[in-house]
Amino acid sequence: MDLCSAIRRNIYCSYMLERIVADTFTMYVEEPSPSAEISTITKTIFSIIAAESRNHAKFLELVAEQNNLFEETDCSQTVGIPWAAVQKLREELSSGRVIGLKEFIERQMWLEKAVGEETYHKIVLPLIREGIKAGCITREYANILETLFSKMILDEEYHEEMLKILAELSG
Ligand SMILES: [Fe+2]
Ligand SMILES: [Fe+2]
Repeated sequence: MDLCSAIRRNIYCSYMLERIVADTFTMYVEEPSPSAEISTITKTIFSIIAAESRNHAKFLELVAEQNNLFEETDCSQTVGIPWAAVQKLREELSSGRVIGLKEFIERQMWLEKAVGEETYHKIVLPLIREGIKAGCITREYANILETLFSKMILDEEYHEEMLKILAELSG
């Protein structure tokens, strides 16, 4: 696969990943069974992270649509383990499996770290930098994407921090 295609697939999969992460938080807040036990502060934090993940998806969409930077693909191949983890979580939630708060928080904390530090930092950012040299993307838009992914990496750290607060509260 050529480099430009790899970049487009990674940007598309990052967008999809953000949407699915947002969905899992929203599902957890809205599903009656576990949310009956979750506190107001938990709902607030989950809703904040969901909103921010949707924003991340929106930002990527805004940049991608101007530059034809989405290439639909099988993201389980492109992203690998974090993709499999969030899909599994979503499937469990939609099948009605009750996931305890502590388990849910731990799985999401793992995911925030994996997406920020592994997917965005070690895979997507270096690909974008390579993409300028290969002419896949203009320098200006590469700079925008680089700034955007750097902001998202910081946000994922902050999501992990917020989840840590909840983990401590939930014992
Ligand atoms: Fe995100
Ligand atoms: Fe996040």
